[in-house]
Amino acid sequence: MKNNQKVVLITGTSSGMGRATAIHLAKKGYIVYAGSRTPQKLFDLGLKNIYPLKIDMTDLQSVENAVSQIDKIDILINNAGYGLVSTVEDVTEEEMFNQFNVNVFGIMRMCKAVIPKMRDQKNGVIINISSFLGKIGLPLLTFYNASKYAVEGITDSLRYELREFNIRVHSIMPGFFDTNFARDNLVTNSKTFSDTSPYASMVSSLAPVIVEQINGGNSAKEVAALILQIIEDEYSPARQTAGDKAKKFIPMKKELSDEDFERRVRAYYDL
Ligand SMILES: NC(=O)c1ccc[n+]([C@@H]2O[C@H](COP(=O)([O-])OP(=O)(O)OC[C@H]3O[C@@H](n4cnc5c(N)ncnc54)[C@H](OP(=O)(O)O)[C@@H]3O)[C@@H](O)[C@H]2O)c1
Repeated sequence: MKNNQKVVLITGTSSGMGRATAIHLAKKGYIVYAGSRTPQKLFDLGLKNIYPLKIDMTDLQSVENAVSQIDKIDILINNAGYGLVSTVEDVTEEEMFNQFNVNVFGIMRMCKAVIPKMRDQKNGVIINISSFLGKIGLPLLTFYNASKYAVEGITDSLRYELREFNIRVHSIMPGFFDTNFARDNLVTNSKTFSDTSPYASMVSSLAPVIVEQINGGNSAKEVAALILQIIEDEYSPARQTAGDKAKKFIPMKKELSDEDFERRVRAYYDL
């Protein structure tokens, strides 16, 4: 490793945005530690700058073991996440806790383990992959929404907490992206999705539309390019959108009253 080569640690790299980002940054000369529950899925890449690393974000010991194997970390990208699709009245304690354990506490554990290294180095960049659903609510996605609103809060607080140590913190709010998200990483509650659920008509009209929008969404390469831009431009804004849907809805959310925005979303999704 050359002394001036920057080292990146990224989570959730077996597919989608994480994998695209690992490849893009490695091709640009970064040393990439590619965190995953299934690091063997990265073995086919054959890029010499990528080091697959097993990380279970729900286990602090696993996170600390992984981080202790890396001498310096210049950039942390908290990307791993999944979506729980459930009404509030149907959710189980386990489903509810696990959504936050991965999407929120997982990020906290990664930051907790990596920040001391960045603080010693007196520099670092942390990029949290949130969602445009971190600013906009939708039915059946309350727990995913809450987790991503939390990611936005983590970003805001950490920006103050880490500023004096020269550690930048940013979030990216993607719209819909064609990754494995809808195919492998949407977890559905069985009661909500049963034919006898009082929410059956909402489920049958909304869920297929969301899945179609994700699968027909933007390319993960766009997020990878934006991540590189944020890393390389120290004046990058605190948060940025990525993809068509986020670029349409986030400015609309800022401009309209809550009620007018809600009316637009109702009309758009026929809610
Ligand atoms: N696709 C979209 O439309 C969209 C929109 C907005 C935001 N996002 C966010 O973007 C990030 C990347 O998602 P993606 O679209 O690239 O989807 P993806 O292809 O499904 O990748 C998500 C990765 O997160 C990790 N992950 C999933 N479930 C997990 C769990 N239970 N425990 C630990 N890790 C888990 C997995 O990595 P490993 O298997 O390697 O551990 C998986 O490869 C997520 O945080 C997602 O919420 C996605």
